Amino acid sequence: MTNALITGANKGLGLEAARRLSELGWTVFLGSRDEERGRAAADGLKNVVLVPLDVTSDESVSDAVRLVREHTDRLDVLINNAGAPGRGIDPADATADEIHSVYDTNVYGPVRVTQAFLPLLRAADNPRVVMVSSAVGSFAVVTDPEQPSSKMHELAYSSSKAALNMITVRYAQAIPEIKFNVATPGEVANRKFAATDMNRHTGELTVTEGTDSILRLAMLDADGPTGTFVDRLGPVAW
Ligand SMILES: NC(=O)c1ccc[n+]([C@@H]2O[C@H](COP(=O)([O-])OP(=O)(O)OC[C@H]3O[C@@H](n4cnc5c(N)ncnc54)[C@H](OP(=O)(O)O)[C@@H]3O)[C@@H](O)[C@H]2O)c1
Repeated sequence: MTNALITGANKGLGLEAARRLSELGWTVFLGSRDEERGRAAADGLKNVVLVPLDVTSDESVSDAVRLVREHTDRLDVLINNAGAPGRGIDPADATADEIHSVYDTNVYGPVRVTQAFLPLLRAADNPRVVMVSSAVGSFAVVTDPEQPSSKMHELAYSSSKAALNMITVRYAQAIPEIKFNVATPGEVANRKFAATDMNRHTGELTVTEGTDSILRLAMLDADGPTGTFVDRLGPVAW
């Protein structure tokens, strides 16, 4: 049976990915930094194990590894989905503290979790890591005057996702036995994103559409790619 750990899976895209993968018969380790919110989210889903997991805490990540090990000796798929939007502060006013807190979730979080789960991933036959990034982590997108994000002035979130993109490429190059790919939940060409709490439900796509790219990368075959960046329509320019 295939298994997957999803961080930040108590709501939004993470929860929808958990629902879709559990319906395929996968065992889903549903990560949630708040145990009660996670329990409520897991309620009603089959094949789901709640994993209390705050990606900004080394201790919480170690505890999560211990808990997953009680259920399995390998992890097929890790989906680093947990993300923080930051406060959208104008670059002139953004402080290092503000940026640091966003990076702690969006950059150091995926590194913390990936690093801790490498032994379990390496024990799988076809291990895959999916990094949930964003179109605003793409230099090509934010420098395209046709893209709304080119006119939205913000530092922390976009640069954190750009860092996550580079981290994914560097993992992919260094660890070829594990596939590392980046998904963005939107449709970059159509300037669309998925309605969740993170954007106060202003997105035009459903969470199901938003998770299409995540699921595609989670389900890659052994001969699938590594080091790529995709949305639900296909490749995205870095
Ligand atoms: N929606 C879109 O179209 C879109 C577009 C581009 C990128 N994304 C990315 O997609 C991912 C999911 O976002 P979403 O749209 O589904 O937003 P969301 O509904 O706000 O979900 C964010 C999730 O991340 C969790 N989280 C935040 N900080 C965490 C931490 N320190 N440890 C563990 N979990 C933490 C949240 O938990 P709590 O409930 O405890 O806060 C929540 O479960 C994010 O990485 C986001 O950047 C989304």
